[in-house]
Amino acid sequence: MSTIIEPFRIKSVEPIFFTTKEQRAVVLEKAFYNPFLIRADDVMIDLLTDSGTNAMSSAQWAGIMIGDESYAGSNSFFHFEKAVQDITGMPIIIPTHQGRASEKILFSIIGGKGKYIVSNTLFDTTRANIEFSGAEGIDLLCPEGKIPSVPAPFKGNMDVEALEKFIIEKGAVNIPLCMVTVTNNSGGGQPVSMQNIRDVKQICGRYGITLFIDACRFAENCYFIKLREKEFANTPIPAIVRELFSYADGCTMSAKKDAIANIGGFIALRDEDLALKCRNLLIITEGFPTYGGLAGRDLEAISIGLYEVMDEHYLQYRIRSIEYLTEKLIAEGVPVMQPAGGHAVYIDAKVFLPHIPSHQYPGQALVGALYREGGIRSVEIGSLMFGKYDDEGQLIPAMMELVRLAIPRRVYTQSHIDYVAEIIIKVYREREKIKGLKITYESPTLRHFTAKLEEIS
Ligand code: F0G
Repeated sequence: MSTIIEPFRIKSVEPIFFTTKEQRAVVLEKAFYNPFLIRADDVMIDLLTDSGTNAMSSAQWAGIMIGDESYAGSNSFFHFEKAVQDITGMPIIIPTHQGRASEKILFSIIGGKGKYIVSNTLFDTTRANIEFSGAEGIDLLCPEGKIPSVPAPFKGNMDVEALEKFIIEKGAVNIPLCMVTVTNNSGGGQPVSMQNIRDVKQICGRYGITLFIDACRFAENCYFIKLREKEFANTPIPAIVRELFSYADGCTMSAKKDAIANIGGFIALRDEDLALKCRNLLIITEGFPTYGGLAGRDLEAISIGLYEVMDEHYLQYRIRSIEYLTEKLIAEGVPVMQPAGGHAVYIDAKVFLPHIPSHQYPGQALVGALYREGGIRSVEIGSLMFGKYDDEGQLIPAMMELVRLAIPRRVYTQSHIDYVAEIIIKVYREREKIKGLKITYESPTLRHFTAKLEEIS
C-alpha cells in the first residue's frame, strides 16, 4: 500500500521554539514536574491534549468571518443547530462553551446524593461533575479493556453483564443515567462497538434508564466500527454516526475534539422536559439558549468541523498516524496500549518503569523524562490523576499507570511523529535512570492540574 499522506496542504504555520536539554531540565524543576505548569513556548511538540488544539480549515476560518454575533436568534445558531441535528438525529440542541459545561448542567439536574451514574469509563471532568452533585460514578469496562498489552477490537466496550448485575443490586430507581464514552479516553482511546451500544441500550430500555453518549470522539469511534465490525464495512461514516446516536436519549459533546474547533460544546437530546431544565440552568451559567457560552463565530466553526471530521480520507490519515507511532514503539519493545487508540498513544508506565512503585507516580516521572529529553509534553493518566487515599492516608493506586501522547488534529506532520518516536525510544533505553516523584502540594479535586512534585533522590 502506498503512504497515507496528510489530506491537506498547509497555508499558515506557527513556529516551534527550540530549547536544549539543559534548559528543559531547569524548566521542568521550576514547573514542579507538572506539565500543566510549563509555558507552551517552552514545549517543542505539544501532546498534552487533542482538546481545543486542532488546526482549523480554511472553510472554518471563513465561517469565523461570517459569524453572526446577535444575542438572540443568531443565524450562526441555526447553522449550528441544523448541523448537530443532522449528524445526531436529535431534535433539541443546546450549545455550551465546552464539554464539562454540558456535564455540569446535566448532572446538576439528574445527579444527587444516593444516585449512581454508570459508564464504560467516565472521563475525569465527567466523574468530577457527577461527584460534585453528590452522586457516584461507576465504571463498568469490559475485562479486555483493563489489560494494556492484550489487543482486542473494541476495548472501550461496556461490560453488559456487570451493568445488569449492578442495576439489579442497586435498583434502577437509583440509576438515572448510563453514559457511554466514545472513544474511551481514560481507557486508551479505545472504541465501543455498535453491538455493544445496542446491548447497552437494550438493558437500559428494560430498566427504564436514560442512555447518553459522551460524544467527544464520535467520528474516530465510528471509523473503528467501519474497520472492525463487518456489518459496517461498506456503510458511509455519516450513516454509522446516525445509527450510533439513534440508540441514545441524548449526548454531551466537547467540540474541542471531533468538531475540530478550538472551543465549544453542546447537549443534544430528545426529551423536552429535560431540555427545559437544562436551558434554565444554561441561562444562569452559560448564556442565552441560542449561543450558550459561545460567540456566533465559534458556532460556525463547529458546524463546519462536524462535517469535515467525518471525511474518510481525514479519518484514515488520523487513525493511521496514531497507529504509525504505536508500531514504531512496539518494534523497539516500548510497552504501549494495544491496539492503537483513536486520538493518542498510551505508554504503560508500570511496565516501562518497573523500579518506580505507584506511590512514586511512574507515569508522571515518565512525562518529565520525555519533556527533558525532547521537549515533548504528554500527560499522566494514572495514580496522580485518579489515585485516592484510604482512611490511613495511604494511596489507593489507579487501575493503570498510563502516559498519554495525544495527537492534535491536523497539526503535526509525519516527521514530527518520527521525532517523537526517536525520543521515546531513547528514553526507554535509558529508563533505569528515571527517578520516582513525591507530591509536595495537591488540591482536593482534580489534583493533577495543579499538583507540585519533586524528584526522590
Ligand atoms: N469527555 C471526554 C471523553 C473528554 O475527553 C473530555 C475532555 C471531556 C469530556 C470534557 O470536555 O474539556 O471540553 O470540558 N478531555 C480533554 C483531554 C481535556 O485532554 O482529554 P471539555
